Amino acid sequence: MIEHLRTVRQSAKTIALVPTMGYFHAGHLSLMEKGRELADHLVVSIFVNPAQFGPGEDLDKYPKDLERDRELAEKTGADILFTPDADAFYPHGYESFVVLEDLPHHLCGIHRPTHFRGVATVVTKLFNIMAPTFAIFGRKDYQQLMIIRKMVRDLNMPVTIIDAPTIREPDGLAMSSRNSYLTPAQRVQALGLINALENARKQVGDGELDTKALINNAKFLIDSHPDTQIDYIDICDPETLETIDKIEGMALMALAVKVGTPRLIDNMMLCPPGIG
Ligand code: PAF
Repeated sequence: MIEHLRTVRQSAKTIALVPTMGYFHAGHLSLMEKGRELADHLVVSIFVNPAQFGPGEDLDKYPKDLERDRELAEKTGADILFTPDADAFYPHGYESFVVLEDLPHHLCGIHRPTHFRGVATVVTKLFNIMAPTFAIFGRKDYQQLMIIRKMVRDLNMPVTIIDAPTIREPDGLAMSSRNSYLTPAQRVQALGLINALENARKQVGDGELDTKALINNAKFLIDSHPDTQIDYIDICDPETLETIDKIEGMALMALAVKVGTPRLIDNMMLCPPGIG
């Protein structure tokens, strides 16, 4: 891939990378479209990265459909689909990881303590291989986006990180490959996430600034569905991800909820009256 991209660079001035774990939905395709718009050459990677899954998580059953993904990537204008295998990426004796000291110790990182080390490591490896001009990430994985931005800044990586909005189903559920695990009954209950976020946004707009009250209301809305189990609901500073007690400027509400077995995440910016 390094050799191939060296040749590509003779005619293409810019390369966009969209890193994914495959099983494409409209969210992935929107990242590819953005990459297509921005750069001369679009590389899409599919790699279900073992380093970012903890024990007992869904690594072995993560949904896959490489043929369908290949067709969709081609239709969306990808020039290269890169699908490394795990043994080549992490050969026997592999021991180098990229670790951030603070940002991973909030939100999802509290519940998935090795997850962001795996993400930062694989993204660094992809950047080293592709040397992309742009790399595109969705805002649904907000903490991941912030960690990658920080890593790129801290380590002077010569790539521009572009973020793209969360793409939602018509009823508001954030698109995720993991939605495919939901039974029809759980699919309905999964709307608790977006309903809780939308409700908080409205309450903040109406002047409720106490984060405890907002989180309690969100808990109540989600807990009213029998198959949900809340991992966390937090309201934090959008830059540092530190939990806040009172909303005084833009704040991020983020949550992770198991609906049956799948663990779904979502987030929304909360904007108090008079800001933004
Ligand atoms: O967001 C994802 O799909 C993954 O975390 C990523 C960025 C492709 C790294 O494996």
